[in-house]
Amino acid sequence: MHILREIVDKIYQNINIVEVVNDYVNLQKSGKDYKACCPFHNERTPSFFVSPAKGIFKCFGCGKGGDAVTFVMEIEGVSYGEALRQLAKKYKIEIPESTNFSTTSDEIQKQNEIDALYIALNFAKNFYQEQLLYTDEGKAIGLSYLKERGFNELTIQTFELGYSASDWDTFYRTAIRKGYNAEILEKAGLIQKKEGKNEYYDRFRERIMFPIHNVSGKVIAFGARTLKKDKDTPKYLNSPETPLYHKSKVLYGLFQAKKSILQKDECLLVEGYADVISLHQAGITNVVASSGTSLTQEQVRLIRRFTSNVVILYDGDEAGLNAAMRGVDIILEEGLSLKVVWLPKDEDPDSFVQKYGTNATLTYIQEKAQDFIKFKTEFLLKNAQNDPFKRGEAIREVVSSIVKIPDVIRRNLFFKECSQIFGIEEEILIREGNKILSKELKQKTSTETEIFTEILPSNLQNTDSTEPSSANFSNSYFQEREIIRLLLCYADYPVEKDEVFGQYLWKELQGLHFENSIFQEIFEIFIRNLFEGKILSYHDFLQIENHEIRQTVVDLVAEKYTLSDKWFEKGGVRVPTKDEKLHKVAYEAIMHMKWKVIQRMIQENQKHLKDASTDEEQNHFLQIHAELKNIEREIASLLGNIVR
Ligand code: CTP
Ligand code: MN
Repeated sequence: MHILREIVDKIYQNINIVEVVNDYVNLQKSGKDYKACCPFHNERTPSFFVSPAKGIFKCFGCGKGGDAVTFVMEIEGVSYGEALRQLAKKYKIEIPESTNFSTTSDEIQKQNEIDALYIALNFAKNFYQEQLLYTDEGKAIGLSYLKERGFNELTIQTFELGYSASDWDTFYRTAIRKGYNAEILEKAGLIQKKEGKNEYYDRFRERIMFPIHNVSGKVIAFGARTLKKDKDTPKYLNSPETPLYHKSKVLYGLFQAKKSILQKDECLLVEGYADVISLHQAGITNVVASSGTSLTQEQVRLIRRFTSNVVILYDGDEAGLNAAMRGVDIILEEGLSLKVVWLPKDEDPDSFVQKYGTNATLTYIQEKAQDFIKFKTEFLLKNAQNDPFKRGEAIREVVSSIVKIPDVIRRNLFFKECSQIFGIEEEILIREGNKILSKELKQKTSTETEIFTEILPSNLQNTDSTEPSSANFSNSYFQEREIIRLLLCYADYPVEKDEVFGQYLWKELQGLHFENSIFQEIFEIFIRNLFEGKILSYHDFLQIENHEIRQTVVDLVAEKYTLSDKWFEKGGVRVPTKDEKLHKVAYEAIMHMKWKVIQRMIQENQKHLKDASTDEEQNHFLQIHAELKNIEREIASLLGNIVR
């Protein structure tokens, strides 16, 4: 299962970290770098940075960081090898068959479980596609149904639709024959065990298969629609929750829609698979589905990676109306703007667009889209009529939605609007809003710390894994850190003839030991490679298995965003800008480090001196003391006035 070194190198050479990350978040240019709201933790102001020049990402909110490969590993939850495979696929780099996915069951079992689940689901997707397009049953039953519903070949391809045969174990038998492991297939939700026996059968039979993709386009589950009309058969059968599939965190169609959502800066939200597919086929491609359940916070955050404008298309029935009233506060809470469109009675987006076509649908959406809060206000008011009690209820309802909006300016706009519609003073509404808020706050006192951290600007929440507690500031931490940082960034810079910066550092630091064990480890790895004629850069360190080392390296390389202020504060060595002379800065850092080491040695020696019981011993330590003092003076004079 090993990928050849040269292939790995080729993948690394081709990677553009901005392209890779952009598959998952909406990156905005920010100077030389790119930024976005972090996909690994929840935030409203971006502290997630990507540096194309350095080939790394780093979140200053939650501390996550690494290179493109690490990013894929983290966000997909896959192993190093699988992340490489995904990137190879993205950049159309072929991994030779012998080193590619193995098909013997023995090797498949050895892979880590997440990888194996992805591979099994991908196999299932291909299998169901083939069943649909190339088997008699698939063509006669599945394909003809899809054609009848007006789905064309391109659409079937885009959504990778398939068909599961009516036999009990068509898929299972094929998968086993191909070497897939039954336990993994079961864990992926594809097969089920027969009661009391060690035999399996297919979960999905005689159904149209809708693969559910994650944001990067990998299949993580299936929705399966029956073609039978009888009431005892559930219309849709979905994959169970698996390590890959959490229903509440997925939006159907997002992979196919994300580009368009970005371009249009708007996301249409519908209920069903069929709605997504029909609209997409009609060229209205910025559409996703919540898959029949009410919207969750995770789903809203997923949308927020691409746009902050949501338009919900509701079926024009009573059920849809109630759903609208319940689910949407989450959207407001997450700071998105929300509009609703009501479709005519007995229509859903699928039937509407098939009946009236693209232009009429777009026009309808545009004309009927109504701001949600305004809609809710008018709807509730109409319901309350002249009943003062109901009116009071309605006001509280609407205000409770308004206070969910995190943005103060927008919130006040809505208070204004709502006060006009109700004919009530704004002040009263705001007071009502505060009442609701304080009540909610009291209800969740346990989350107090959470609120506190939310108020803090993100740069103060920054937890830097390599930073010592303030009690340690007196040691040579900052000097050590600076030296390692320079080493990582500039190791191969020529400093003298035939000598690069890494070699210079090695010579200067001979005999010295870093107090910080991670720094020491990094330095040792560097030296070991130097002896073998290889000068490592931080890119090499990012491929090291040790997570702590990788994290430290990213923190150091990404430094310019964080530490410069602290440097000035603590009076350490300045962070060099590009124009500064590398040599000088490094020299200062080394001298500082040496000076601190001497200080330490002097202190230790003095302790020995105190404890010395014989004259001989005392003389010995006094002599050392004199020598150390000499060195200290020497370093001090070299450092000039930079010693603090
Ligand atoms: N759904 C489900 N299980 C069901 C019924 C519905 O999971 N038994 C989910 C599916 O994700 C479905 C969505 O709810 O897509 C909306 O349901 P519905 O409108 O009935 O399905 P459509 O996608 O519109 O399917 P069709 O038009 O083929 O009836
Ligand atoms: Mn439908």
